[in-house]
Amino acid sequence: MADNKIESVLKEDRQFDPPQAFLDGAHLKPSEINALREAAEADHEGFWAQQAKDHLDWHKPFSQVLDDSDAPFFKWFADGEMNVAYNCLDRHLATRGDKTAIIFEGDDGEVEHISYRELHARVCRFANALKAKGLGKGDRAVIYLPNIPQAAVAMLACARIGAIHSVVFGGFSAPALRDRIDDAEAKMLITADGNYRGGKLIALKEVADQALSEGCASIETVVVYKRSGTDVTMADGRDVWWHDIVDGQADECEPEWVNAEHPLFILYTSGSTGKPKGIQHASAGYLLGAICSCRWVFDLGDDDVFWCTADVGWITGHTYITYGPTACGATQVMFEGVPTYPEPDRFWKMVDTHQVSIFYTAPTAIRALMKQGDEYPQRHALDSLRILGTVGEPINPEAWMWYRQVIGKERCPIVDTWWQTETGAHMISPLPQTTSTKPGSVTYPLPGIVADILDESGAPITDANAGGVLVITKPWPYMLRTIWGDPDRYKETYFGMYDAHTYVAGDSAQRDEQGNFRILGRIDDVVNISGHRMGTMEVESALVAHSAVSEAAVVSRPHDVKGECIVAFVILKNDDGNDKLASDLRDWVAQQLGAIAKPEEIRFADGLPKTRSGKIMRRLLRTVARGDEVTQDVSTLENPQILDQLQAKGS
Ligand code: WT7
Repeated sequence: MADNKIESVLKEDRQFDPPQAFLDGAHLKPSEINALREAAEADHEGFWAQQAKDHLDWHKPFSQVLDDSDAPFFKWFADGEMNVAYNCLDRHLATRGDKTAIIFEGDDGEVEHISYRELHARVCRFANALKAKGLGKGDRAVIYLPNIPQAAVAMLACARIGAIHSVVFGGFSAPALRDRIDDAEAKMLITADGNYRGGKLIALKEVADQALSEGCASIETVVVYKRSGTDVTMADGRDVWWHDIVDGQADECEPEWVNAEHPLFILYTSGSTGKPKGIQHASAGYLLGAICSCRWVFDLGDDDVFWCTADVGWITGHTYITYGPTACGATQVMFEGVPTYPEPDRFWKMVDTHQVSIFYTAPTAIRALMKQGDEYPQRHALDSLRILGTVGEPINPEAWMWYRQVIGKERCPIVDTWWQTETGAHMISPLPQTTSTKPGSVTYPLPGIVADILDESGAPITDANAGGVLVITKPWPYMLRTIWGDPDRYKETYFGMYDAHTYVAGDSAQRDEQGNFRILGRIDDVVNISGHRMGTMEVESALVAHSAVSEAAVVSRPHDVKGECIVAFVILKNDDGNDKLASDLRDWVAQQLGAIAKPEEIRFADGLPKTRSGKIMRRLLRTVARGDEVTQDVSTLENPQILDQLQAKGS
């Protein structure tokens, strides 16, 4: 592929209308999308009420739509009762019982098709087992599993009995798992012995044991799914095998009818300060967002094969594996492995094998696969594809064009979906039936989502291409409800900048002349590595927890595959920095927080650039980390000589 040709094309600001071939087969017609937009603009609450009636099955119908009497603590459909697992499973049994819900492909290539009837039975059996183990409505269960169907089963089983799950990504380390268990005061941990990813063993139970060896006093039961067959230690009276507790359980389990606002799950994500925040989502509103976005953005229909390559440990996996596709009664692919194992054509091979029609992945994966060369996708026909999606970080136009041309063969609209753990589901994205797409642009807010860009005083920025703070100015059903155990932090973080109706996303954005949104990046101390959020403060705390370190400052710099990577400036207590210590510190951070937090580079120095009032000048460190020329005013630096040292270390 001629890269420079693509680059030059982009400078022309190209725009692509929905391809005719796509429109011919689309489930939603442009007129239906236009009607949705009009209805939402005419009556925000009425629109969402109608969607909630059309797309959710209610045990007890709601009469109230939005309750904003205690803003920013919003409630939606608050007097209604329903059950999320019922909406994802039971309601399909009459018409889609034998339809495949999940096509699972393991790391080693094993394939399993699970029907809706079978998935329902598995969820019921596991739900009964959880109840027998004393897990009940409102109790928290932490799920620390590989990306295998049992993770979705465990989540749906919790939802069925009204327990609140908190999934912790399998790549997180023992201290990170422990912190999350402690913060959620979870009664149960659901994990596996281990699994293989890219042919490498991940010893989940061993990590879980480490986490449980200190703290985690709330844990009463550990359920272990046998996946790798690895030897594990089972603590007497605490640890039980998944297969033992489901043995003999009934295939039916009456759903626990919960209030629409009943917490469905907590999912931890990084913020700019302190420990990760437990983002708490409600039941009905969250599921509604998952369903509507699957229908509108992915045009998801009964004949599709949907594949979201995320791990269930992230919000993307929650919404676009466990909940959205199942609530829509769709067939989806779930994959345990990595894109480059055993060969860099794994994704493309799977697209053909399973005839995937909607494919959703992250820019970091697209860039990594693009680097491998076009020969890998070219080995496969890829003609089942009809929509390509991307999420997690800004996608560079070059990768966007490659995705469109080499994977989508210019037949498939690209949906670049902006959203967050907090927003629950897509917020700003092209709707493939009507939106003209632009490389690097997330285009327009979804129907029923009202986004704006404000300056510091709260005035909307109307100038084209001027950057500002991205906000959502009306509550939406699938928004987070609070931060678990910390309502003040919720209020302060998301509604502290302007007022109680203006949600501050933490990103900056700009609009072009046509009003297309483009996301510029975070406005806080959060970095985005391979589409995953990490707080620079978390990495700094991990570094200073090491016995050799006295002080650390962490910034990011661009990385051609990961998007961003971490550069840490470290002041040691007495040693001189050397390569061995740098490598030990990188491993240390990975052990403390997980591999995604591992600094790309450690630079040792005698001090950090500080203002006379003692504030670390992070902007300056960012410039230095990027190897750019320092043009900032350094006259307020308390220790200007440190600058030469920091720069010298980088060369
Ligand atoms: C942050 C949210 C939403 C699932 C994955 C990440 C960035 C997300 C895009 C996009 C540009 C994006 C933002 C956002 N982000 N999608 N399409 N274009 N940036 O969820 O871990 O909660 O991170 O990811 O900075 O705030 P998350």
